[in-house]
Amino acid sequence: MNSHIQKLYNIALKPDRLVIGLMSGTSFDGLDVALCKIKGSGTETKVEIVKFETAAYLPEFKEELKTIFSRRDADLEKVCLLNEWVAIKHAAMINACLEKWGYKKDDIDLIASHGQTIYHAPKFLHGREKFPNATLQIGDGDHIAVNTGIITISDFRQKHIAAGGEGAPLAVYGDHLLFSKKGENRIMLNIGGIANFTFLPGDLDGSKIFSTDVGPGNTMMDAFIQKHFPGKYFDEGSAIAKKGKVNNDLLALLKDNTFFIADFPKTIGPELFNLSYLQIAIEKSATGSLTPEDIMATLNRFSADTIADAIKRCAAPGEDYSIYVSGGGMHNPLLMENIKSQLSEMKFYTTDDLHILPDAKEAVLFALLANECICGEKINVGKGRNKIPSVTMGKISFPD
Ligand SMILES: Nc1ncnc2c1ncn2[C@@H]1O[C@H](COP(=O)(O)OP(=O)(O)O)[C@@H](O)[C@H]1O
Ligand SMILES: [Mg+2]
Repeated sequence: MNSHIQKLYNIALKPDRLVIGLMSGTSFDGLDVALCKIKGSGTETKVEIVKFETAAYLPEFKEELKTIFSRRDADLEKVCLLNEWVAIKHAAMINACLEKWGYKKDDIDLIASHGQTIYHAPKFLHGREKFPNATLQIGDGDHIAVNTGIITISDFRQKHIAAGGEGAPLAVYGDHLLFSKKGENRIMLNIGGIANFTFLPGDLDGSKIFSTDVGPGNTMMDAFIQKHFPGKYFDEGSAIAKKGKVNNDLLALLKDNTFFIADFPKTIGPELFNLSYLQIAIEKSATGSLTPEDIMATLNRFSADTIADAIKRCAAPGEDYSIYVSGGGMHNPLLMENIKSQLSEMKFYTTDDLHILPDAKEAVLFALLANECICGEKINVGKGRNKIPSVTMGKISFPD
């Protein structure tokens, strides 16, 4: 038997494991590195975040990624080169974290690597009948395994698509395992580049669980800031949006897209919600004379309204709901204020209230998927309904 198979077998039998979960979304702010102690598997899973850091992406790294990210005209050689380079950089970030935290490679059982999404093309977006839903994450798992010396599980999204999903949101599996709670209707809202939520019904009826993207979280605000405020990457503390005034004509055109009407669950990315999308809305609404501050105020409201509308749509009359927020958007005060004011009857928390650091949540959820891949069963949420196939996700890379 290959000694790595024996090692995996031993890892699977351990009562608890140290798993590094990695996540980098469409915001390119950095690589979230969550060192998790995971006990058990399936609905018995217990997770503790031992260490967490967002390893910031350097400007050069961001600029290289931007040359191919969500671009239909990307240079194919560049895509090929970055597949390796991103992995090598990610491995270096992991090694730096381990050194800083005082861990050696042999202390760590598994790495769970999401990779860097460069294109997300559900059928809704590409519209080409003969092609399936598709998504592409780069930063190859073999390179991470070789450069860290740690068994790496990666590329989780392909199995989801192969089994009938759109490759996203995968948060539903971990959300269900960790956070489903009898007697409480929970909405796990993550506001990253794109905003998504998982609905976990308090009656624990699996057929009601679903997870969906709802539209832009930070992505359009970030793209606008990066273009119009050189040197800035995002609207820290909503400082710029707070100086502007929402323009209702522009807002109405931003909301005028069939994506917002389509049934749940659905997924989307900056391939749709980008600066060209904004430009078309500006032209159609004849709002070309707005100040950058007004546009930012409007983009902020656009994200808030579409998030709040989606949550309202999923809520049944007479029921109580608790919303648990995570992701970088929760640090944008105007965005949160705009969301909360429209959902005043709901209770707001962050995942901190459930003992999971909000900024680390998505990385932790990938650590859980790797844990299930090696030690669990196929995760069964609602018997494959609501585009949540019951599958084992992730590809296994050995270090040598
Ligand atoms: N203090 C802050 N003020 C406003 N926005 C913030 C703040 N901190 C983070 N953000 C937003 O959160 C984004 C990062 O969110 P994150 O959850 O890491 O997204 P992703 O999963 O796409 O990487 C930033 O690009 C920024 O838009
Ligand atoms: Mg991020």
